[in-house]
Amino acid sequence: MEPEPYHVQTYQRETDDTFSVSLVPASGKKRFKFVPGQFNMIYAFGAGEVPISISGNPARNETCIHTIRSVGPTTRLLEALQPGATVGIRGPFGVPWPVDRARGKDLVLIAGGIGMAPLRPVIYHVLGNRDQYGRVVLLYGARTPKDILFSAELEQWSSTKGFQVEVTVDTADSHWNGNVGVVPKLITHAKFNSLNTVAMICGPEIMMRYSIPELTDIGVTEDRIYISMERSMKCAIGFCGHCQYGGIFVCKDGPVFPYSQVRKFFLRKEF
Ligand SMILES: Cc1cc2nc3c(=O)[nH]c(=O)nc-3n(C[C@H](O)[C@H](O)[C@H](O)COP(=O)(O)OP(=O)(O)OC[C@H]3O[C@@H](n4cnc5c(N)ncnc54)[C@H](O)[C@@H]3O)c2cc1C
Ligand code: FES
Repeated sequence: MEPEPYHVQTYQRETDDTFSVSLVPASGKKRFKFVPGQFNMIYAFGAGEVPISISGNPARNETCIHTIRSVGPTTRLLEALQPGATVGIRGPFGVPWPVDRARGKDLVLIAGGIGMAPLRPVIYHVLGNRDQYGRVVLLYGARTPKDILFSAELEQWSSTKGFQVEVTVDTADSHWNGNVGVVPKLITHAKFNSLNTVAMICGPEIMMRYSIPELTDIGVTEDRIYISMERSMKCAIGFCGHCQYGGIFVCKDGPVFPYSQVRKFFLRKEF
């Protein structure tokens, strides 16, 4: 339960409200291991502790990378940190994306907004084990062109053999000549074998809600659709009940679930 001190090694601004930090253990000793989809609890001294997914490459364990959107008191304080600053880390926690189950299959990754960050490690993992996976389709939606995360990497991935990357924005500007509209609409343009595909979805619940029927309509069964649930958390280890729905704890039974398991809790409001 006790946070371990980590130093901010590098700080990179991604968009107006989003930044990435790489963190190293203050002890200088430990290597950081995680699997795609897991998260850390980051403690910003003087503000609080928040769950944040790990957005770096799972095969590179010398630093731990997080991509954070500044939305409230704790994330705003994290945004102000500079290299050399100290934060507390507990983790990694949570059930990861099913990269093992997806071996030998096509992958459809659907991301909205900051939901791109928890899916990036899946792409790194697939690139590092390319012969074990089929086609990879990444469908990503951002509010505006200025809000698109990891643009340089998106470009790189889109020219990788067997990859299809489609980006859409809610609102375009005069320089944008790509897709405009909601992410689920991109599913009809995606080329993959729906009978041998695992889908992983991360983003606003409304986006997930509309993506799921588009996938099931073309034959991706609910047990092959995985979603990452986002709920407020305190302990992150199944003790406090803060993230509990019925018998499910999002922190320890998730955040990644097969849709078939959480369908009944989906879109239920937190109180
Ligand atoms: C498993 C998990 C992984 C996450 N990964 C990331 C990540 O990689 N990058 C990132 O930027 N954020 C991530 N988040 C969300 C992040 O934890 C919240 O944005 C953060 O807790 C906000 O804290 P705050 O004190 O800055 O703002 P708060 O004052 O707590 O919140 C500001 C606003 O955001 C809303 N909000 C806060 N937390 C959540 C939440 N969990 N779900 C929905 N709305 C919320 C509040 O209702 C409020 O409107 C993740 C959340 C979970 C549960
Ligand atoms: S955050 Fe405490 S039980 Fe999940």
